[in-house]
Amino acid sequence: MATSEKKGFTATLYFFLLTTMCLVGEFPLKAVAGNAAPLLQRYEDGNEHGYSRAFNAIYDTSKYGILQLQNGLARTPPMGWNSWNFFACNINETVIKETADALISTGLANLGYTYVNIDDCWSKVTRDAKAGSKIANSLLCKTKMLLQGQMVPDPKTFNSGIKALADYVHSKGLKLGIYSDAGKFTCQVRPGSIFHEKEDAMSFASWDVDYLKYDNCFNLGIEPKKRYPPMRDALNATGRSIFYSICEWGVDDPALWAGKVGNSWRTTEDINDTWVR
Ligand SMILES: *[C@@H]1O[C@H](CO)[C@@H](O)[C@H](O)[C@H]1NC(C)=O
Ligand SMILES: *[C@@H]1O[C@H](CO)[C@@H](O)[C@H](O)[C@H]1NC(C)=O
Ligand SMILES: *[C@@H]1O[C@H](CO)[C@@H](O)[C@H](O)[C@H]1NC(C)=O
Repeated sequence: MATSEKKGFTATLYFFLLTTMCLVGEFPLKAVAGNAAPLLQRYEDGNEHGYSRAFNAIYDTSKYGILQLQNGLARTPPMGWNSWNFFACNINETVIKETADALISTGLANLGYTYVNIDDCWSKVTRDAKAGSKIANSLLCKTKMLLQGQMVPDPKTFNSGIKALADYVHSKGLKLGIYSDAGKFTCQVRPGSIFHEKEDAMSFASWDVDYLKYDNCFNLGIEPKKRYPPMRDALNATGRSIFYSICEWGVDDPALWAGKVGNSWRTTEDINDTWVR
């Protein structure tokens, strides 16, 4: 081929390729545009153009969460760690701190596992007697004192206090959870919060706690529907946003009544790392 012929051939080839590409490229675009415009139009105009209200409602998130407790939390499921399954009662502030560190170093925190939740056994077996010390003379009064007063962290295992632990956990960008019970005692026979909801919620809030798991032991036979709302109201009254996790083991069908009582509820007894349950 002569040079000019070569140039002509190359130009023809380019022209052919461009035309083909344009055709191939434009045909589907036109086809999509032809359908998409009325599709969008119909979506934007709602059911006037043939789509049912129910169909359009799929895209309407304005009422999301109206059946939930309105404390701004649990818009997505909470994720994190709880001390019970592995450590049971053998916990202390070191274990909690090390777990917070591990959530960071393993990368789990980055994936959303942000709650570090202390379960049963963090508190002293009796309430702080100071609140009742003025009436501390008779044996009756002494007994009463043990059942009144503030919940306090066990000085042997949480000597720095829960506030210091919350500060540590928060400094890592994580959240701290604590545990109590909608009964006279916790399952490990520490003070429970029934009839102490207000002062205990105040304690949790004053320690900057972010989450409360509220268990079901020693419940005096009072039905969950009656025992769980007072703590919801007490937490709310503190003004601090505290995730409220109802743990009545699913015994009274919480799915039927707990939506506006707690941020979450448990549906079974304890699970463990087997496939049995
Ligand atoms: C804290 O608890 C862990 C786990 O049970 C235990 O291994 C450790 O010895 C405890 N530390 C102290 C100081 O008690
Ligand atoms: C308390 O409850 C009200 C009413 O549901 C809600 O608007 C408010 O955000 C709650 N406050 C806290 C701290 O949970
Ligand atoms: C796990 O739970 C199942 C069902 O309750 C029980 O049979 C089993 O003993 C438990 N295993 C452990 C290791 O706790």
